[in-house]
Amino acid sequence: MSKLKAFDKSKHVLNNKVIDVLHKEFLEIYNSVEVTSNASIKSKATELLAHTKRHFMEEEKLMDRYNYSRSMEHKNEHNKVLAELQFFIDKSHSAFGMNILKSYYIEKIPYWFDYHLASMDSDLVAYLNNYNLRTKKLKQEVN
Ligand SMILES: [Fe+2]
Ligand SMILES: [Fe+2]
Repeated sequence: MSKLKAFDKSKHVLNNKVIDVLHKEFLEIYNSVEVTSNASIKSKATELLAHTKRHFMEEEKLMDRYNYSRSMEHKNEHNKVLAELQFFIDKSHSAFGMNILKSYYIEKIPYWFDYHLASMDSDLVAYLNNYNLRTKKLKQEVN
């Protein structure tokens, strides 16, 4: 089966070990779907939801640990996505709901993923890497 969303190093590697692994795993789950099967879409969406909860929790732990100043907006966006995905999964027991989940899965998720990485996650990673650089410099100045 052709991939729905290929892993693209230039877009999907942000240079944070923990976050990059989570994003790679996200795409692996996403791509393992069989698009012609509703059962597969439903089960992959459910798997993605569980993984995404862990993914967001890890990012949010980093935000809190390093006092990231834009954590409020970033967390709000995370919550919105989790609620949306949960909502579409819950509605998918009807044929109509299933069609919506299917188009959400195929069209919306990859778009959201790229946009979120390019905007919020890359900002977070830049902040974290900067933070590390600053503390390293401070240590050097002290020594
Ligand atoms: Fe992320
Ligand atoms: Fe994020």
